[in-house]
Amino acid sequence: MKFLLKVPMWLVWAMLLFSCDSGDIYPKKYENNEGITVSTTFVFENLDAFPNDYPLIFGAFGDDKQSVPLASVRIMKPKNQEPVKVSIDNLTSEATSVMLCLTDLGRQPVFSLFETSITVADDSIVIPESKVYLASYNRIQNLVFEQYTCVSCHQGVGAGNLTLTADKSYNDLVNKVSSINTAKNRVTPFDINNSFLLDILKDENIVPAQPHTGFVTRNDDIVLLEEWIKNGCER
Ligand code: HEC
Repeated sequence: MKFLLKVPMWLVWAMLLFSCDSGDIYPKKYENNEGITVSTTFVFENLDAFPNDYPLIFGAFGDDKQSVPLASVRIMKPKNQEPVKVSIDNLTSEATSVMLCLTDLGRQPVFSLFETSITVADDSIVIPESKVYLASYNRIQNLVFEQYTCVSCHQGVGAGNLTLTADKSYNDLVNKVSSINTAKNRVTPFDINNSFLLDILKDENIVPAQPHTGFVTRNDDIVLLEEWIKNGCER
């Protein structure tokens, strides 16, 4: 590192100056594919579980789907269940897939709701319309039980005799009597008032020995659990 400090500032400026004298306005990678657009239409089901804390984007990705998209558009909550048209312009051949995904605030994907691979050639790409179910169990498994590391305590013979790993969680929750409040099920389909899972996450007085109210930090994820239960606990 030290030798870098000895490079005089005038040399740094000179290098910067001469390195951008090609006259190109656009980055080279856009030259061949300029104007290629990918578009599609989504119909969102279960709009109450539309994310607010996580930006929802339609993005084009290269081989690394964990990193920020090459290009993306943000999707805002529609007023009703009308189809939402989305498109991304100026795709480059680096793009190998598109995803509809919830992201963190740094635009990195945290959960994908729709995904398909694409090949950027000469023509624009039109992907057929798809339905997007927002209150899926898969989203709960990923964004609640795994993201908030519930599984660190609730695995094997889990804490409270509850296992929240992907292979067991559904069967351990739905229509199973709570071991703490035997008057309620852990989760009762269509009945948020008879679902102890919500009580323990929302009411700090419920298990003073092991308070659960601090675990889920985004309201979106509580709403997701509620909507999933209200809609009958689809698997
Ligand atoms: C630090 C360890 C720990 C973490 C992390 C944790 N739990 Fe628990 N959980 C426990 C313990 C211990 C109990 C049993 C408490 C008791 O019996 O008094 C329990 C009980 C429960 C129960 C009640 C089970 C029943 O039969 O009534 C539910 C539901 C639950 N946890 C869900 C979760 C969810 C969802 C998360 C993540 C958001 C989570 N837990 C994270 C330790 C943990």
